[in-house]
Amino acid sequence: MKIKTSAPGKLMLFGEHAVVYDRPCVVTGVSSRIHVEIEKTDGHFMVDAPGVKDIRFVEETVRIFKEKFKTGNGLSIKTSSDFSCQYGFGSSSAVTVATILALNKLYGTQLSQKQIFDLGYKITLEVQGVGSGFDIAAATYGGTTYFVTGGKVIQPLNVKTISLVAGYSGIKADTPKIVKSLKLKIKSDKTKYNGIFDQITKIVEDAKIELKNSNWRKVGELMNKNQQLLESLEVSTEKLDTMCQAALSAGAYGAKLSGAGGGDCMIAIIPEEKRQSIEQTIKNVAGQIIHVTNNAPGVCLE
Ligand code: MEV
Repeated sequence: MKIKTSAPGKLMLFGEHAVVYDRPCVVTGVSSRIHVEIEKTDGHFMVDAPGVKDIRFVEETVRIFKEKFKTGNGLSIKTSSDFSCQYGFGSSSAVTVATILALNKLYGTQLSQKQIFDLGYKITLEVQGVGSGFDIAAATYGGTTYFVTGGKVIQPLNVKTISLVAGYSGIKADTPKIVKSLKLKIKSDKTKYNGIFDQITKIVEDAKIELKNSNWRKVGELMNKNQQLLESLEVSTEKLDTMCQAALSAGAYGAKLSGAGGGDCMIAIIPEEKRQSIEQTIKNVAGQIIHVTNNAPGVCLE
């Protein structure tokens, strides 16, 4: 029996970095997905994961699952991806969660969504040592989600389709490295960084309301404020700032980096009628447009 699953990539809308420190964020699942195919073999363990950045996410998932549920069979696992693992769309989380669901189905272990999230988060921490788990939540639940560190709160938000532009900066960010280096800076000045995280938290809480109200102009203003605070955390880059400025100059309501910073993607919230000129302006500053929509469904059987 061959089991096929898929899980969505993600875009962080608000609250990156702060969410590592017991604070909320808002994340959305995107229409580009990671696909996983699993079947039992006569004892061999084979992984063919061409689009996966770090194969340990698949290997650790299998190891931990086997240990937990005492499943001994050989397995053949194949993955494919609708998007490049360079973008920072959470390909590692998506492949982890899609593999868990496939194993869950293959062995009839009947894990709930929350148990899939918890297992996925445990695997992320084992492999990369840091992370809030928001990307695991996006891959598991999909939609648009209000999320607090480690899954203390995972609340689906009723948000319509957002007129969104995603632009790749051309540079792959090293998320664990950026998170760890910020951690060191925080140690040296807790008051300063707590102050910044308090302001980000207020933005996330306001964004939660404005997103539900489809008040896109207001959501854009909040994105700009969030970007300023990310710049004060020194996680943005000149290229990301330039791409955000380009989007704003062509009429976007707001723009910010999405994820850890240091590269990866920026996002802009836009009046739909200005899409073409905004996308062109981002391309003019050497950004690459990635076509995705928000609110994608979470992990599922295919
Ligand atoms: C990275 O995409 C987002 C961070 O907040 C890290 C995390 O929440 O795991 C920087």
